[in-house]
Amino acid sequence: MKLATLSAFLAATATVFQTVSSISVNAIFDQHPLQLPLHDRKKPNIVFILTDDQDLHMSSLSYMPHLNSTLIQHGTLYNSHYVTTALCCPSRVSLWTGLLAHNTNVTDVNPPYGGYPKFVQRGFNDKWLPVWLNDAGYGTYYTGKLFNAHTVDNYDEPHVKGFTGSDFLLDPYTYQYRNATFQRNREKPMSHKGQYSTDVLAAKAYGFLDEAVERYEEESEPFFLAIAPVAPHSNVEFNSLDIINGPEFKTTAPLAADRHTHLFPDAKVPRTPNFNPDTPSGVNWIKKLEKQSENNVEYNDHFYRQRLRALQAVDEIVLNVTARLAEAGLLDDTYIIYTSDNGYHIGQHRLQPGKECGFEEDIAVPLIIRGPGVPKGEVVDGLVTTHVDLAPTLFSIAGIPLREEFDGTPIPLSYKRIKHQKKHGKREHAGVEYWGFALEEGEYGFSHHEGEDVKGYYTNNTYKALRLVGEDYSLYYSVWCNNEHELYDLDKDPYQLTNLYTNSTLIKDYELLGYPLKKVLGRLDALLFVLKSCTAETCQSPWSALHPSHHHHVSSLTEALDERFDEYYEEEVEKIRFDRCEQGYIVEAEGPQWDKSMGMRGGLRWSEWV
Ligand SMILES: *[C@@H]1O[C@H](CO)[C@@H](O)[C@H](O)[C@H]1NC(C)=O
Ligand SMILES: *[C@@H]1O[C@H](CO)[C@@H](O)[C@H](O)[C@H]1NC(C)=O
Ligand SMILES: *[C@@H]1O[C@H](CO)[C@@H](O)[C@H](O)[C@H]1NC(C)=O
Ligand SMILES: *[C@@H]1O[C@H](CO)[C@@H](O)[C@H](O)[C@H]1NC(C)=O
Ligand SMILES: *[C@@H]1O[C@H](CO)[C@@H](O)[C@H](O)[C@H]1NC(C)=O
Ligand SMILES: *[C@@H]1O[C@H](CO)[C@@H](O)[C@H](O)[C@H]1NC(C)=O
Repeated sequence: MKLATLSAFLAATATVFQTVSSISVNAIFDQHPLQLPLHDRKKPNIVFILTDDQDLHMSSLSYMPHLNSTLIQHGTLYNSHYVTTALCCPSRVSLWTGLLAHNTNVTDVNPPYGGYPKFVQRGFNDKWLPVWLNDAGYGTYYTGKLFNAHTVDNYDEPHVKGFTGSDFLLDPYTYQYRNATFQRNREKPMSHKGQYSTDVLAAKAYGFLDEAVERYEEESEPFFLAIAPVAPHSNVEFNSLDIINGPEFKTTAPLAADRHTHLFPDAKVPRTPNFNPDTPSGVNWIKKLEKQSENNVEYNDHFYRQRLRALQAVDEIVLNVTARLAEAGLLDDTYIIYTSDNGYHIGQHRLQPGKECGFEEDIAVPLIIRGPGVPKGEVVDGLVTTHVDLAPTLFSIAGIPLREEFDGTPIPLSYKRIKHQKKHGKREHAGVEYWGFALEEGEYGFSHHEGEDVKGYYTNNTYKALRLVGEDYSLYYSVWCNNEHELYDLDKDPYQLTNLYTNSTLIKDYELLGYPLKKVLGRLDALLFVLKSCTAETCQSPWSALHPSHHHHVSSLTEALDERFDEYYEEEVEKIRFDRCEQGYIVEAEGPQWDKSMGMRGGLRWSEWV
């Protein structure tokens, strides 16, 4: 194992709330504020809360009563929301640029493939959300973790652009819950040794909110405030920061604030069928994992409780921010968005605590939106939204024309639009991609000490995946860099334990949507083929790229399954294949590439038509 790759991780490395009761007239008439003439309204404010590694599928939301009472019950929970890369830095860059990782080429936490230096080198410091919002007249504020490899050494090379006010957590202290370093505006980094990171962050967030509210009242300047606590990420301790010989670090369970350490003594990771199963599951390195011992499982339950405890300080921030907005009379003019950079697994498929996989636990994250016109207490299922839809969503909230390069589209924020998109089978796909390492966290995970073997660190965790959800199907299809494939039918197998692709009996006999599995697979492979290298509109409507003819109107799996297209899918569209595994986006390693001449036009291929 190369030490250079290791350094990838280093730099990286119930009170009931009373004030929120007003019923918005917008909600009743489905009058989106954007439909009002510009001069009739002030632009709405935006508060964006971004947690680190928070799951949707291990019940973390049920342990956040304030989040529930202030946001979920007064807003909409988008229950099929996916990240497009299950790792902090790439996911955050995609979120704040509206571009998939293969279009940012920020695919890792550290150079050469990722981290803050790569973000800067790729020019995104001048082309990303805070800059655009600022240009559109917003006051822009950020506190907390931005990207990995944004450090006490490089924070001013150059400074992050686009913010009216900022106060960032910096590496290598980002993940030290009681030894954080923050860096405010153009000031020098400041250590907060001994203080609890999330509480330090809370005070900074309230300070920015007060400033923003004042400017809103005095100068009618709308605001965007991002609050990005490190919870519930694992705590990371460094024994040595020796970059040359490889850092020694250890990931431990996250730490709670003193007032929360006693909570949830009986909580355990939900014992779903995929929890530490008797039979191995997945492919590649995952399939080789051993069943976890009782001690290991007990430790992982402790790790789980620590996550829930660490989230309590975040839950208080949600309550306090909402209360402050209500006090200022701005709660109903403000969109509050709550999400996480990626999901998390503990014990499912025998995995140690961590992320980086394509399983549902890792790619599905909470997305809760409260604001003018957004349905209250609504849970939206089966409408796929992704992190690259968030920048376009914020643009539409702020009334800014969408950028042509966006890979996503605005998330519907009203009853009418949600209903319309569901009815027309819009939003069925999420393209998911990953390059490079997977790292197991916690006591039984990654360890590396001088002179010892490295354990809990896997390279070649490179894959392309497709999550597809329609009225009659819920599928996950992936192709790995060693050319292993996975296909799960989540309607019948929600815990992803039966890989249909590798079971020869099932390949022959299994039916999906009334068709043989093999036929459906051809469609899925083609769709993923497009998604893995798409840009802009092609990412938004990949079926249209496969069927550019206006005679076809193919916009869903069901429509693509029409037998008229059998020959095209079976014989003409190339199959996805990798030539080798790489730790970053090296196109030459990734086999055939989609180009639009491959699209089917009328009865002919586009290339034959022109
Ligand atoms: C939120 O609270 C309601 C009412 O107490 C409860 O029914 C619901 O399950 C809670 N939601 C979550 C996500 O825990
Ligand atoms: C705490 O942070 C300071 C820098 O702010 C650093 O010098 C010190 O080594 C850190 N302590 C630990 C235990 O990592
Ligand atoms: C929330 O606000 C209350 C009342 O101002 C304050 O006592 C408490 O410390 C705040 N909590 C956090 C986590 O900021
Ligand atoms: C393949 O699927 C069949 C039917 O579900 C099952 O009985 C069999 O055990 C599976 N084989 C493998 C190798 O998983
Ligand atoms: C990773 O993939 C490369 C290239 O495909 C191969 O040479 C190498 O042996 C693989 N490493 C492991 C640990 O599987
Ligand atoms: C992505 O960045 C890496 C590292 O700089 C580079 O080697 C690779 O060619 C880039 N990929 C693309 C598609 O530009």
